[in-house]
Amino acid sequence: MADWKRRVAEKTLRVGVLGLGYVGLPLAREFAGAGLKVLGFDIDDQKVAILNSGLSIIKHVPHEQVKKMREKGLFEATADMSRLREADAVLICVPTPLTANREPDMQFVEKSTQTVARYLRKGQLIVLESTTYPGTTRELMLPILEKNGLKAGRDFHLAYSPEREDPGNKSYTTKDIPKVVGGLTNECKEMACALYEAAIVRTIAVSSLEAAEAAKILENVYRCVNIAMVNELKQVFERMGIDVWEVIGAASTKPFGYHPFYPGPGLGGHCIPIDPFYLTWKARQYGMATRFIELAGEINTGMPHYVVQHVMEALNERKKSLKGSKVLVLGLAYKKDIDDVRESPSIELIELLRAKGAKVDYNDPYIPATHKQREHDLGMKSRKLTGAMLKQYDVVLISTDHSAYDYEWIVENSQLVVDTRNATAGVRKNRNRIVKA
Ligand SMILES: NC(=O)c1ccc[n+]([C@@H]2O[C@H](COP(=O)([O-])OP(=O)(O)OC[C@H]3O[C@@H](n4cnc5c(N)ncnc54)[C@H](O)[C@@H]3O)[C@@H](O)[C@H]2O)c1
Repeated sequence: MADWKRRVAEKTLRVGVLGLGYVGLPLAREFAGAGLKVLGFDIDDQKVAILNSGLSIIKHVPHEQVKKMREKGLFEATADMSRLREADAVLICVPTPLTANREPDMQFVEKSTQTVARYLRKGQLIVLESTTYPGTTRELMLPILEKNGLKAGRDFHLAYSPEREDPGNKSYTTKDIPKVVGGLTNECKEMACALYEAAIVRTIAVSSLEAAEAAKILENVYRCVNIAMVNELKQVFERMGIDVWEVIGAASTKPFGYHPFYPGPGLGGHCIPIDPFYLTWKARQYGMATRFIELAGEINTGMPHYVVQHVMEALNERKKSLKGSKVLVLGLAYKKDIDDVRESPSIELIELLRAKGAKVDYNDPYIPATHKQREHDLGMKSRKLTGAMLKQYDVVLISTDHSAYDYEWIVENSQLVVDTRNATAGVRKNRNRIVKA
């Protein structure tokens, strides 16, 4: 332990980050920023080549940061997994999606653990960062890692520390977000804490791997349930002629006991629509139902349908039908100012609108074209925004409230705007063209 701490302090410890995506790359940046050498691993050769050329692969990690890491010799990416032996710590940041039946899809965690096991050597610390159900590290990873004869807690060390990254958040980047850490043994936990403390603001040690896994799930269930609650309240208040955004603004002035959540066109991203169902699946093994999660899922997945209904009604008011109408969806990303479309409600909106016979285009300054996803293949390109093109659409649907949009100008040039984010709150002119949904 003393030797580990000394090597962290002297920055001679080599950090391996496995999975260089939205979580892995910012994490690698933080360790390199703290002066530790980082070896990044990914199965995607193209990603590896781009990163090694000094360019970034995600919008909120600028190219200059990758270039600087490379120039200082603090970062290298590789697809050669045998080099895992060079790392003293391996931080695993691979995807944890759902299967088509909405059950945990553990193939990425399983395969990456098998790879780590193949090259595991004495003294290494292995940490899972992916969001998952309580029990994953001990029940799924531990047996795979021990199958070649090395014993966890004695020959190598095992910990779980969830990534709490919030892409696009300018106030909190990876290094500012305290890290919850659970270890298989006390020593595993202390080694992981010592490592993270070199690069991250603070660590919070918890008593077990499972407590750390559950903490991350709690955070995401909390968001999912509260977003569902305001989505439901939006619909109730609308019937009563009350603006939910005004109400949230007023309630938010309470200095304690209230935290604002905002309604929207549906849940998006890699985390909130997915992670709670990891717990639902695990709870079933204990004969328990997660009713809050199920109910929240029901309300949140209904939101795109609610929005489409409002688009139809707004067109109807103007003696038009959705079938044959031209619709421009503004924003494809699942939230403002990022370039991530995973689980984005905009995609579902486009599919629902198309299914009802609308001719749909989209604009997103950060997503020039759609690419094939597991369940979707829209085959679309972002349309350039001009005043003349906006006028051609029967309705402009604001799905993502990117800061780059000039909402006054958009409303001025549109026939009808359906706003799912209250993005047009500050627009003064032509308010009769705006419908909130
Ligand atoms: N994106 C977020 O905002 C966010 C925030 C907090 C937590 N998380 C969690 O972090 C985890 C990673 O999410 P992400 O958004 O970074 O995913 P991502 O898809 O952006 O990145 C994952 C990377 O892992 C690579 N990969 C897959 N299998 C591999 C393997 N066997 N060996 C090596 N590399 C492999 C992929 O090629 C990809 O580059 C998930 O569990 C997610 O729930 C994500």
